[in-house]
Amino acid sequence: MVGVGVGAVVGVGVGRGVTVGRTVGVTVGKGVAVGPADGTGDGAALGSGVGVAELPLEQEVMMRTKAENRDKERRRVLPGFLIIVVPFLLLCRLYLNTTRCYYRFAVQDVPQEGEEAGALKEEKMTLFATHHVHATSDTAAGQPLLSIEKVSVQFAARKGLLGRTIVRAVNDVSLALHRGETVAVVGESGSGKTTLGRASLGLVEPASGRVTFDGKVVTGQTESQRKWFRRRAQAVFQDPYSSMNAYMTVGQIVEEPLLVHGMGKREERLARVAQALQDVRLSPPDDFIGKYPHTLSGGQRQRVGIARALVMRPEYIVADEPVSMIDASSRAEVLYLMRDLQRRYGIAFLFITHDIASAAHFSNRVAVMYLGRIVELGPPRAVVNDPLHPYTRALIEAVPEPDPANRLRMRQVVPGEPPSPSNLPAGCSFHPRCPRVIKGTCEATVPPLQEIKPGHFAACYLYKT
Ligand SMILES: Nc1ncnc2c1ncn2[C@@H]1O[C@H](COP(=O)(O)OP(=O)(O)OP(=O)(O)O)[C@@H](O)[C@H]1O
Ligand code: SF4
Ligand SMILES: [Mg+2]
Repeated sequence: MVGVGVGAVVGVGVGRGVTVGRTVGVTVGKGVAVGPADGTGDGAALGSGVGVAELPLEQEVMMRTKAENRDKERRRVLPGFLIIVVPFLLLCRLYLNTTRCYYRFAVQDVPQEGEEAGALKEEKMTLFATHHVHATSDTAAGQPLLSIEKVSVQFAARKGLLGRTIVRAVNDVSLALHRGETVAVVGESGSGKTTLGRASLGLVEPASGRVTFDGKVVTGQTESQRKWFRRRAQAVFQDPYSSMNAYMTVGQIVEEPLLVHGMGKREERLARVAQALQDVRLSPPDDFIGKYPHTLSGGQRQRVGIARALVMRPEYIVADEPVSMIDASSRAEVLYLMRDLQRRYGIAFLFITHDIASAAHFSNRVAVMYLGRIVELGPPRAVVNDPLHPYTRALIEAVPEPDPANRLRMRQVVPGEPPSPSNLPAGCSFHPRCPRVIKGTCEATVPPLQEIKPGHFAACYLYKT
């Protein structure tokens, strides 16, 4: 029985239908078949150009069986394929969105100079469940709360079996922090960020220079002499888990500093613990007071660490890589929380981080350290958008590219490893790696940190003042 029909053979299986008896297919061009009304394109496979094909019944049956088997196989595989591939694609999309969000917040939303450091859009507030707070008053005005004056810190380290060497972790650093101001310290590993933070807290004694807090000298005092300072300056550490006793409950962990300093009666202490937990959004506090650290997420543990610092109602907090060990979404939440606290209570933060993007987003000023020295200091937008020092440029180039389209873009990378702090190069410590080194000048003497643009400092001979 021969009828006439039109079917298009596109790829595999389109146009195949039920055929009884013999098939006549006429092929026009490639893959367009005119054949039996009961739909086939099988005949098309036999010819090219224009032609007529007749198939014997057995061959027809064989082809039909093959086609049916292929259809069955496809029907069997397709649901599995959809179940695995579709969620995978959705997860990829979600991951890319999260990464983009984080970097969009971190890199692109660096506040303008003079602009409120957290002029956040509505959607960000919803996403990270943070609440808006008012900008601090002029943080740069008046006497600094904390002054680090020409501080150098050295460590004696072993070299070989019997030898010893001097590690110059911090070299002649001066930095002032005002009430309610966040200064971010960025730089690669070993640049002296932690040592500078510890020196500012009096946890390591400088070889030279001094630290003053609220006009009083901290350096050189004994622990009992600077008890007053311990109450007013606190630290939040990188690893919230290792910095708290796993056998103590959240309530005990947060209350401990009050007990150590003999502050308040039991009821007062408990009220302060509850307030601190509320402040870090571990709410309601009663749900968390009796919990142990291992039952909390990384972000919640870090918030317990912040509550522990906050319970002392400090004026100055050193936050050393506070978010580097928690996941990306909690990271942003903890950083927004710190900024919220900074504004609400006027706390000065020294925010130590590897990540120049979050440094710029969550600070009023950014200090870039290289081999124990501050090589650039300035407002976040100026440092990120118009870096002066070649090392800062390299750090910014190293920020991962959030847009997949730009991931393969060639970047300028600083060659080589940073020299050892026990064997600092003469002159500018960056000169062995600097792409813009001025021969005969940069190796001679250390460039001083100078104001190149209003409020924007750099230690580099490229800028003559
Ligand atoms: N107690 C110590 N004894 C000897 N050397 C030390 C000591 N503490 C730090 N250093 C050295 O001082 C230099 C600066 O260390 P520091 O921890 O301050 O750097 P960092 O910028 O915080 O690095 P990271 O980003 O890896 O935390 C490093 O070379 C380090 O090895
Ligand atoms: S002082 Fe010289 S070596 Fe150092 S960063 Fe500037 S140009 Fe480079
Ligand atoms: Mg460190």
